[in-house]
Amino acid sequence: MNILLFGPPGAGKGTQAKKLSVKYNIPHISTGDILRKNVNDRTELGILAKEYMNKGELVPDKVLFKLIENRINEEDCKEGYLLDGYPRTMPQALALSKISGKEIEIVVNIVVSDDELITRLSGRRMCTCGASFHILFRKTKKNNICDECGNTLYQRDDDKESVIKQRLETYKNQTQPLIKYYSELKILVDIDGVGGVEEIFTKICTKLDLE
Ligand code: AP5
Repeated sequence: MNILLFGPPGAGKGTQAKKLSVKYNIPHISTGDILRKNVNDRTELGILAKEYMNKGELVPDKVLFKLIENRINEEDCKEGYLLDGYPRTMPQALALSKISGKEIEIVVNIVVSDDELITRLSGRRMCTCGASFHILFRKTKKNNICDECGNTLYQRDDDKESVIKQRLETYKNQTQPLIKYYSELKILVDIDGVGGVEEIFTKICTKLDLE
C-alpha cells in the first residue's frame, strides 16, 4: 500500500510512521530526515536546504521532485511505501501523481490543535541515533541522555519558538490546501491526533486495515 502521512509540524507523523513501517513492512520515507542527513553531511543539497529549514520555510520544490521520484522507484518500495513530509505543496502533489504505478492510495491526515503542536515541538529532544524524546510526553530515564544509545540529546534548530511559529504559518499557507485536493480524490481520512501514541496508532491501523 502507498500511504501518505499528512499533518502539521508536530502532529506525530514521524512517531507514527516508524511504527507503521514495522507493522506493514514498508519503508518510511521522511523528506525531513533525508534533508537533515544532508545538512549534517554538509552536502550541496544540505547547505541549500539548511537556509530554508532554519527559517521554517520550505525547500524549493525542484530540489525535492527528483529526490522523491528516485527514492520511491527503489526496489524496497515495490510493495508500497510510507511518505512522511512529502508532498507539502500542490506542485509536489502533482509531480507525485505523475510517477507511474506509484500513486498514493490513502492519505492519513493527523489533526492536532496549534497549542498542542507548539507544546510538542518546543519540548522535543532528539538524539543523533535518530531517537526522539519529549520533556513531558516521552521522558528519558536519565536527564537529557538517550535511552537507546546513551548520547546527549539536542534540540532541533527549527524547534526554537520563533521558527515553530513560522513553520505553522508555512503549513497553513502552502501545505494545508492539499487537504482539499486529497479529499476531492476521496482518499483522505482524518485521525484525531490527540491522545496516547498507542491509541493513535491503533486508530490509524484500523483505518488502513479497512482499505
Ligand atoms: P520535517 O522534519 O518533515 O518536519 P515537520 O513536518 O515539521 O514534522 P516534525 O518532524 O516536526 O513533526 P512530526 O509530525 O513528524 O511529529 P513527531 O512525530 O516528530 O521537515 C523539516 C523541514 O524540512 C521543513 O520545515 C522544511 O524546511 C523541510 N522539508 C521537509 N520536507 C519538505 C518538502 N516536502 N518540501 C519542502 N521542504 C521540506 O512528534 C513531535 C513531538 O511530539 C515529539 O517530541 C514526539 O515525541 C511528540 N509526540 C508525538 N506523538 C505524540 C502524542 N500522541 N502525544 C504527545 N506527544 C507526542
